[in-house]
Amino acid sequence: MRRVFKWIGIVLGSIVGLIAVAALALFIRGNSRLNATHKAPDTLVSGFGDSASLARGEHIMRIHSCQFCHGDQLQGRVFLDIPPALAVASNLTPGQGGVGATYSGEDWDRAIRYGIRPNGTMLLPFMPYDMFNHLNDRDAGHLAAYLESLQPVDNQVPPSRAKFPGKLIFGNSNLLPKKRAAAIPILDEAPTPEYGKYLASTTCVACHGDRLQGGKHPDPTAPPAPPLPPTSAWTDEQFALTMRTGRTPARQLSEHMPWRFYADMTDTELAAVRAYIRTIAAAPAATN
Ligand code: HEC
Ligand code: HEC
Repeated sequence: MRRVFKWIGIVLGSIVGLIAVAALALFIRGNSRLNATHKAPDTLVSGFGDSASLARGEHIMRIHSCQFCHGDQLQGRVFLDIPPALAVASNLTPGQGGVGATYSGEDWDRAIRYGIRPNGTMLLPFMPYDMFNHLNDRDAGHLAAYLESLQPVDNQVPPSRAKFPGKLIFGNSNLLPKKRAAAIPILDEAPTPEYGKYLASTTCVACHGDRLQGGKHPDPTAPPAPPLPPTSAWTDEQFALTMRTGRTPARQLSEHMPWRFYADMTDTELAAVRAYIRTIAAAPAATN
């Protein structure tokens, strides 16, 4: 009998040992991937930055709710403090503690669409570069030009941190730069489902899911983001009121839905998003 216990002890001990070795190996791999450096494709052409371009860039910044995480003046703020991670949305201005003073035009694009810092390491995926990878070259160019024109705001924020389990998780997640976004067509603003799909792919999908079928908010304390196809039964006025004030036909939405920033969406942009939602609602689920 004693012998049996001894063997069980040895087997259990080995299993625990193996798990510890595996966890350590994953940690080392995760840590080295967090410290690995990458090169982004050279993408942006010059020619951005006149007053029309800056206005367009500011509009793109607003409707992509950069301020939702980076703060109203893009001055940076702690976005999530949930151990094992501290996610800090950087100060984007050229003020003290901001990245703006040292960023060049291409650095903006590399960070926003490819998730790569100027030193080549990857940003933590709290920054939705995965989604911004779907911005076309023209919009990304206007956005970078606008960010370069920001007024300085002094605000020293701590760096984002991932502790032991965080390194294990993030380092082993899909922490690789996105591919060149050149294939994204440059569409002119129009109330079409194609343009609506483009807008949704760089905004709504973060929370409502790839096909707007409903999804999880990045903040675990937020309510889920509901499926959007049912809203195609609403009138245009009801939809616009929801997007601009958070007031749906049934209730007042919390600010976890960034309606404060979508208030800037033009009538054409809202019509485009609606048109796209209608095509999803009309498509049989199997072909989605
Ligand atoms: C869901 C929250 C969220 C949104 C929305 C968001 N960001 Fe970020 N962003 C972050 C976080 C968190 C970081 C820091 C990540 C890190 O430290 O690894 C970051 C980092 C960055 C950086 C890199 C700065 C540095 O430290 O080198 C840039 C540039 C940036 N964001 C620009 C933008 C722009 C422009 C938008 C809108 C188009 C935007 N972000 C929207 C959360 C967000
Ligand atoms: C940062 C996450 C986030 C993003 C991005 C986002 N939403 Fe939402 N949305 C939510 C959440 C969360 C709710 C529910 C809020 C609540 O229950 O208080 C919601 C609710 C809604 C509703 C109300 C649905 C209903 O049945 O009551 C509509 C309509 C909506 N969102 C449309 C959009 C559209 C269109 C976009 C893109 C332009 C978008 N949302 C982007 C998080 C988001």
